[in-house]
Amino acid sequence: MARKIVAGNWKMNLHLKEGQALVQATNEYLNQNPVEHIDVIIAPPAYQLCQSVFNSGNKKLSIAAQNMAAQDNGAFTGELSASMLIDSGAELVILGHSERRTLFGEDDALINAKVKKALSKGLYPILCIGESLEQRQSNVHQAHIKAQLDAGLEGLAADELYRVIIAYEPIWAIGTGETASPEQAQNMHSFIRKYLSEKYSATVADEVSILYGGSVKPANARDLFGQPDIDGALIGGASIVKDSFLDIIQVGEEILR
Ligand code: 13P
Repeated sequence: MARKIVAGNWKMNLHLKEGQALVQATNEYLNQNPVEHIDVIIAPPAYQLCQSVFNSGNKKLSIAAQNMAAQDNGAFTGELSASMLIDSGAELVILGHSERRTLFGEDDALINAKVKKALSKGLYPILCIGESLEQRQSNVHQAHIKAQLDAGLEGLAADELYRVIIAYEPIWAIGTGETASPEQAQNMHSFIRKYLSEKYSATVADEVSILYGGSVKPANARDLFGQPDIDGALIGGASIVKDSFLDIIQVGEEILR
């Protein structure tokens, strides 16, 4: 069965003290309300990774990086390698977020190289995929997701897939307050699961976590988490507000199975 996950992507938000306070509050919450059914992940800005790992203490709170270089080391100003992220204590890394794709020109080939690098070094990649509004309106959204999966997972063996987490994040729902309806999200998640089943195996499809991302809030988490193929969420805005993140964790623990 796929890991059930509630993950917060802080993006470029929260300074050191705010980040520290949020990690500590999440940690305290998890100590008082131990979760059995979900893993909780936070992805702080890179310079807070070490501190977040230090403050996380709770085994149920894992730390993810938001990006990673495809190279091992060398003259790559401003970049961080997989082994540097591991040094910092990160266990996972978000790759191919639509903001990296659209604002920083990351293409499928680069993202695929990063996914392979992360896996080879022992990090769990969270591969983000998602269509634009235009693609959805012109009914090519499934074809686009298939192409992103083909390219992002290119060259991976079935036994490597067990360590990949997929985050379906429709671009039109990110930071817009407009969430995919539970039916829209479920349809795409089931499409992704079928893809994994046909391309790899039924077991792979069953084991890979498929998270939904795009304006997840306490108010809509329940309906989204109730869908059979939604294994959790990758949350932006609501993950940097303590009460809403903790509420979503609570709903996740209650509903996700
Ligand atoms: P929002 O939850 O702010 O829409 O962001 C989603 C996201 O991009 C998570 O990676």
